Amino acid sequence: MARRAAAASGLALATALVLPALAVPVLAPATSATDPATLSASAAPVPPDPASVAAGAAVFIATGCGNCHAVRGTAARGTAGPDLTHLASRHTLAGAMLPNTRGNLAGWITNPQSLKPGALMPALPIAPTDLQRLLDYLQSLR
Ligand code: HEC
Repeated sequence: MARRAAAASGLALATALVLPALAVPVLAPATSATDPATLSASAAPVPPDPASVAAGAAVFIATGCGNCHAVRGTAARGTAGPDLTHLASRHTLAGAMLPNTRGNLAGWITNPQSLKPGALMPALPIAPTDLQRLLDYLQSLR
């Protein structure tokens, strides 16, 4: 009886050791594939075009983002919102609620309240091409 239990727990241990290694690569794409924001993030071009990043920096100032957010080394010195100097190095947005993906950034900028009810950032109208440049800029802030 004791020997059987030991054999069973040995099997459980072996399973516990093997399963995580199997589960991780299988589960990770399965969960992210259900998230439309993650899908659009993976469809985004990986290396942003430097001209688009520069244009996005201008959109950031012109749209008024810099009135509430600081990006060190630029004209953006606002303090009402979080400092965005190292935004792209962060894993989450808006108080750890949202994975920091391109899709979530786009959703946040165009309608913060839809992602976080009560968010203290106003929704700002931005033309689609300007939004893509702005996202290239924000994703360059490492
Ligand atoms: C009126 C002030 C205001 C303006 C203008 C504004 N924001 Fe915000 N922003 C905020 C505040 C406040 C937060 C924090 C909101 C929260 O977590 O509830 C925030 C959060 C953010 C975040 C998430 C930051 C983090 O630390 O996770 C990003 C990204 C962001 N803003 C980008 C922008 C961009 C891009 C623009 C211009 C299109 C912009 N904001 C304009 C006030 C502003």
